[in-house]
Formats: sequence, structure tokens, C-alpha cells
Amino acid sequence: EEAKKVVLTLDDSLPKPTKAKVYQLESKRDQRIKISGWVHRLRAQKGMTFIILRDGTGYLQVVLSGKCTETFDALTLSIESSIEVVGTLKAVKEGQSAPGNHELVADFWKVLGKAPAGDEAFTNKVNKDSDPSIQADLRHLMLRGETASNVMKARSAVLSAFRDVFKDMRVLEVTPPCMVQTQVEGGATLFKFDYYGTPAFLTQSSQLYLETCLASLGDVFCVQESFRAEKSLTRRHLSEYTHLEAELAFIDFSDLLDHIEEAICGVIDIVLADPAISAIINELNPGFQKPSRPFMRLDYKDAIKWLRDHNIQKQDEDANGDKIFLADGSPQMSDHQVGDDIAEAAERKMVDTLNVPVFLTGFPKDIKAFYMKKVPGDENFTEAVDLLMPNVGEIVGGSMRISDYDELMAAYKHEGIDPAPYYWYTDQRRFGTPNSGGYGLGCERLLAWLLNRFTVRDCSLYPRYTGRCTP
Ligand code: 4AD
Repeated sequence: EEAKKVVLTLDDSLPKPTKAKVYQLESKRDQRIKISGWVHRLRAQKGMTFIILRDGTGYLQVVLSGKCTETFDALTLSIESSIEVVGTLKAVKEGQSAPGNHELVADFWKVLGKAPAGDEAFTNKVNKDSDPSIQADLRHLMLRGETASNVMKARSAVLSAFRDVFKDMRVLEVTPPCMVQTQVEGGATLFKFDYYGTPAFLTQSSQLYLETCLASLGDVFCVQESFRAEKSLTRRHLSEYTHLEAELAFIDFSDLLDHIEEAICGVIDIVLADPAISAIINELNPGFQKPSRPFMRLDYKDAIKWLRDHNIQKQDEDANGDKIFLADGSPQMSDHQVGDDIAEAAERKMVDTLNVPVFLTGFPKDIKAFYMKKVPGDENFTEAVDLLMPNVGEIVGGSMRISDYDELMAAYKHEGIDPAPYYWYTDQRRFGTPNSGGYGLGCERLLAWLLNRFTVRDCSLYPRYTGRCTP
């Protein structure tokens, strides 16, 4: 009853506070400031209340004492409530620690939006030990946690670093459409929808559109969502992912590999040079070291030999592509042969053993996409590359593109693709074909590697995968 009567008022005799965000506080010591955020942590002791305030740009310790701790709101304050605080920013005393080594000593504060307490309290709802599907339903709240928000901050830094790197390399950003009527990576993973009465798809890759920009804009890139109706639930497959793709004109295969290496290492240099981001990387992936250059280059045929030599086998499949099991339920395994696709498990065992980034090159044409250029003099193989990273496996897929008109027409035919809807792509081979190549990088996979996350799902804002399209 007494507490309800205590009312705080802003003391106008004090210096007028300046509005600030946590990231700006370094230069505001001993000044009176006004700051708003969410109650991240809360501790009351000996007539004082200590709040760790979170405003998205950082964390700040707020100290309430005296009258500030005696209001009804002070006595009922709950985690995740939003509040506004006015006070003086003071360096913490010797031997004490707080984020930024300062704390805000409040002379006024108020609740803006109160969060539930008791059973419905945030900490009861959002628990990092709870069932993964409950956590997935609560993604919108999980994102407020330190780990999830650190991943998202690093993600933002990585995307921005790619833009810087491409600007330096004079590669222009374009925004291709997501709604398309052509496939790029095979019919099996297309999401189909009704487009004003005609069938259309969500894009699997913006590659073909990027290729059409070369003749007008030179080298181009995009950061666009790609969509894959993947049948398998794995820790590295999403149904929607952020696809960073680039296309380069008048290059050869070795230029393509050099460019991918240069772009990725450039991005790593930029993010490590940012103290806030390098601290996040160090916390999530202790001991992370920038990979040494040049990256290892491994020809597909040598990889098959490596897998055989290391007794890493593959599970056999029947004519329908279904996995074969023995009578006792165990998988029927056999040695890899030249011509085989290297499946996820074998790929990861290989790259985890090598424990460095690996450019795997020269895949058989029959397991690769229709547009890929053949290796000169070895026509059953392609000038294609996957970049494999330890712990994750493939993070980049790219290739040189078929530049010859007749060869492209034969490739459509071989793949059973009707060339009619591809007329605009085919025209690139008719009106001054370049020798070109490009690649796509899965942003969530790069982040899973950089931040040592078990699954790409943790690297997506709101991950979509089989059975999940919410929240
Ligand atoms: O190897 P992919 O299928 O290649 C292409 O789409 C090319 N058209 C790209 C190009 O040359 N412009 O996909 C490229 C990358 C993969 O290496 C992987 O990192 C990521 O996209 N990726 C996925 N990431 C998450 N979930 C999925 N289902 C993914 N499928 C591919």
C-alpha cells in the first residue's frame, strides 16, 4: 500500500539528459543521459536494484536506489519489461565489473511495457534446455537471448562485409526476382505455386538472372532468398536460405577459384577487424583462426581415391535412389567409385579429417547441373567446384558456364528440360556469349562454420525446414 504511493518525478533542476543508445556510451561518462531498453537481468539486494538493460546495441548496468526502488513498478519489475531510465553514467569502482565498465546511476525511471511475472515469466517460458520444438515455436523470444542475438549480429556483419568486398572488386549488386518459371538446380526441390493461373516456382538460385546482367553491368552479385523443397531433415538444409551469388565475365576456372577464396578471406578480415564481432566469434568459436591461403584444391577423382584409401564408404541405393538396408537393418555399404556423388556424411568425414577449407573440383557431369562447362579434354567431368569447410561441409557451389549455344541446347535435351521458357537465358549464348562462371554461397552455412554452430537453423532469423514455417 505504501509502495503504491511512491511516485517518481523527473528532477528538472538537474542537467537536461541527452538520449543515447548503449553503443554510444563510451564518450558519455559523468553525463546525465536517458536510455531505454529491456530488462535483461534483474537482482535486488540491500535496498538496491541492479538491472542489466539491453537495447539491442549492447548491455548496460543500471543501479536503482532510494526512492527509485520503492515504487510499485520497482517492487513488481519483471525480466523483459521495457523501461526508460534517466541518470548519470559512472565508471564502475576498481575491482567491479559491468558491461563497458560503467553503470547508470538512476535518478528517474519508468516502465514502458511490463512483461508477465510468475508462471508466464520470460525465464519460465524461454529455457535453453527445453525441447527443440518448443524452442523453435518460441524463436521470436529466443532471439532475445545472448547467443541467438550474437549470431544475428555476426550475420549482419558478414553480409555487410560481403557488400564491402564486392564494392572493392567492382561487382555490382542486383535484385533478381524470387518468383520464376524456370528451374536451376533440378525439379526435385522446386516449390511450386499458382501464379495467376499459370504454374510458377520460388527461385532455387538467381544464377541464370545474374548471367543475363553480365553484358550490361559487368560482374554482379545478389543476396537473395533461395527456396528448396528438400526432402531430408539435416542440420545443414533449410527450405529457405539466404543465397549469396556472384557471376563473373571473361574468366577461367582458376580465376573463379581465386575469386571465391579472395572474397571469403576478405570478409573474414573485415569481420575480425571489428572488435565487437571478433569478440562474438571468439566467444562462440574459441580459437577461431583465419584459414591459411591458398585453400587446398582437390580434384574429384583424387577425392574418390582418398575416400577409398581411408575406408570411408557410401550407402548403396536402388534404381529409384532409395537407400538399401541389410536384413539386420544396417545400411548396405560399399566403396566409392568414380561417377558417384559424394554424400553429406562422407564429404564431412573427409573435410573434418583434412581440417582445412577444401576446393573440391571437377565433378562428373551426370551428377551436376545442366549449365556447367565440361573440363576441356575430359568431357565427362565439369569445371565445377564445391568449397568444403570442416564441421559443415559444402558452403559454396559454383562452376564455369557452358558458353557454346549448341552445347547448351544439347544440355537442356540431356536433362529433359524444355528450352522454351529458357529463351532469355539461351539468348545470352546467341548475343555475344562470354566465358563466364559464378557461384552461390549459403550464408547460414558460412555462419555455421564461422560461429561453430551445430546447425544452420541457428544462423537463420526464422528458419524454415521440413514441417516448419512458423513463426
Ligand atoms: O550448390 P548449389 O545448389 O548451387 C547453386 O544453386 C548454383 N546455381 C549457385 C551459383 O552458381 N550461382 O547451392 C549453392 C549453395 C550451397 O553450396 C549451399 O551452401 C547452399 O547454397 N545451399 C543450401 N543452404 C541451406 N539449405 C539448403 N537446402 C541449401 N541448398 C544449397
